[in-house]
Amino acid sequence: MEPAKTVNVSELRRMREAGEKIACLTCYDASFALIQDRAGVDMILVGDSLGMVIHGGNTTTPVTVADIAYHSRCVAPHLKRAFLVADLPFLSYATLERALDASLRLMQEGGAKMVKLEGGREQASIVEYLSVRGVPVCAHLGLRPQFVHKMGAMKVQGRDEEAAREMLHDAEVLAKAGADLLLLECVPAELGRRITEASPVPVIGIGAGQDVDGQILVMHDILNISPMVTLGRKPRFVKNYMTGGVDIETAIRNYVAEVKSGAYPAPEHCFLK
Ligand code: KIV
Repeated sequence: MEPAKTVNVSELRRMREAGEKIACLTCYDASFALIQDRAGVDMILVGDSLGMVIHGGNTTTPVTVADIAYHSRCVAPHLKRAFLVADLPFLSYATLERALDASLRLMQEGGAKMVKLEGGREQASIVEYLSVRGVPVCAHLGLRPQFVHKMGAMKVQGRDEEAAREMLHDAEVLAKAGADLLLLECVPAELGRRITEASPVPVIGIGAGQDVDGQILVMHDILNISPMVTLGRKPRFVKNYMTGGVDIETAIRNYVAEVKSGAYPAPEHCFLK
């Protein structure tokens, strides 16, 4: 199959089948949307990470559906090729009705083509409810930042065999429920590989190793300007693409090229255990 002019769910599947890595970044405004689209980013996420990199908070908890809809509206009109995904923020999908209302806003007002929610098999009924109504869903597994107050700390997930098997089962149940995409955050590279091999849908990783179908990072992290980086709390999987005096578009092009070639992530960006 030939590559499509615009990225959609079937193009993401084609890329996975062709072994072409999917390059993804977060984005929250028009200026960066234009640059990312021109630089060849395949999928753009208006993530609730905006609560940290835009609003300057410590968690994503205060982010609202109105915030995500607003930033999606800033991004969507400027994308000619990239596929736009918007995050369902904290508790906005706690019931079927809330999930449907929030997705309606993100897709109708925000122009998103897919919504993302955090959680494992306990979210299967929500995924199915949305999916059968024509809402494409990305299910976010592994480290789930919306659970920070429940977990107490943000740490690598699925390290022991029992937890790894639970996550493999979650991934299977969510794909069966209709998820079109899985996102895996902060898991050992070996578990990233196992989940990707078993998955019928593309798997995008962030700190999930090399053997997933694509990579996503927070744009402000790769531009070396996020509060995490500035305050000296750079996660292991983050790479600074602003070295060597390059401009922003070149930095993003280099990120895309390294994801496509497999040069990113290198072993030092992966959790090996
Ligand atoms: O909110 C976000 O930006 C995300 C990414 C870190 C994957 O969920």
